[in-house]
Amino acid sequence: MPMRFPEGFRWGTATSAYQVEGNNTASDWWQWEQAPGRVRGGDRSGQACDWWRRAERDFDLMAGIHQNAARLSVEWSRLEPQPGRWDEAAEARYREMLGGLRQRGIEPLVTLNHFTLPQWVADRGGWLWDGIVPAFAAFTSRFVRAAVPLVDFWITVNEPVGYLISAYLQGRFPPGRANPLAFVRALRASVRAHAAAYRAIHDAQPAARVGVAAYLRPVQPVDQRSSLHRWLARRLDHALNWMHLDALRSGGLVGPGGLHIQVPEAAGTLDFVGVNYYTRTRIVFDLRRPRTFFVRADRPYGVEMSDADYGEVYPDGLLAMLLEVRCYGLPVYITENGLPDGDDDLRPRFITDHLLRVAQAISEGSPVRGYYHWSLIDNFEWADGWGLRFGLYALDPLTQVRTPRPSAALYGEICRQNGLP
Ligand code: FCB
Repeated sequence: MPMRFPEGFRWGTATSAYQVEGNNTASDWWQWEQAPGRVRGGDRSGQACDWWRRAERDFDLMAGIHQNAARLSVEWSRLEPQPGRWDEAAEARYREMLGGLRQRGIEPLVTLNHFTLPQWVADRGGWLWDGIVPAFAAFTSRFVRAAVPLVDFWITVNEPVGYLISAYLQGRFPPGRANPLAFVRALRASVRAHAAAYRAIHDAQPAARVGVAAYLRPVQPVDQRSSLHRWLARRLDHALNWMHLDALRSGGLVGPGGLHIQVPEAAGTLDFVGVNYYTRTRIVFDLRRPRTFFVRADRPYGVEMSDADYGEVYPDGLLAMLLEVRCYGLPVYITENGLPDGDDDLRPRFITDHLLRVAQAISEGSPVRGYYHWSLIDNFEWADGWGLRFGLYALDPLTQVRTPRPSAALYGEICRQNGLP
């Protein structure tokens, strides 16, 4: 018996601009990449998947596997490479791309901020610059007006908490800081920027649907018997998974260490919840880690692993997260789910196992309306460079040759049948 999904379910793949477009030279990530030691193996994004010139080649692949949806992002640094200087040609190219998706029967879901900033914003202090909220809202407003009527489905910020941890606590992403106070200030700015963008989008397009893509993962203690470990896991679960989403519902950022910041303008600024799901985090208490509140992630062993050392395959966690997000009472989209698996020996079962959990979550009342697999093709994986291969299609970045992995046909069949064959 094939297992069917609800009618109108969105089937897509997800990408971000910097990871696929190539030559985003005005972005803070471009400068970041140039210094040695920041990207594994000294890799560079370079021409990436060459989308700026030839995204349509991959839109054809999407249509070929029967996708009816796609998630992509736009680079603020292309549209506004210098303060106040809008690039009309870049805007026209994005409109061409969005129209190209529509012509193929693919509905775009557009992210406005996916891990990058224009270098000029970074030079002024990035998420700590006191002008970032109005600047982001102005950029958003202008782009949304240009994209109407091609898009009515938006994500303001991708994985705000995880991104800011990488950028302001772990120093893995630009600006490479490791400062808890800077992190908290950046987080507050990010919530305010979301709220301002939410309003700017609805002003331009009242019927728009606007959300964030939250990285959700179960946080579990390795030592289940220890009440201290269970308590730490609960605190971390709240801080990593729910604190930010709660703020967009209530207008208050409430977290560990007495963190309590009012951001009243953020209350009620979500039309849907985007869930990025990859794996779970199992934690151990470690006195040598004051910077991470004496907690560190356990390196999993004895479990099924993807090509990444953090990558335990754990489909049950997706079910758990989809049941938890019911509390927001909003439509849910799985805005990313996938794994790095160069030889594709795990991906086919990964896809079906995760989709079985999605179906179960729907049957238990979770209003999931779509699934976007990360990703269509191998792309530039930030600090991991070209080493981790997330694509349904393999990409040789030198020759730009695409080769389908067996998962591409499987996913295509799922999209075509609106269910599991
Ligand atoms: C997510 C990011 C995305 C990509 C995948 C593998 O956390 O949003 O850009 O790097 O991981």
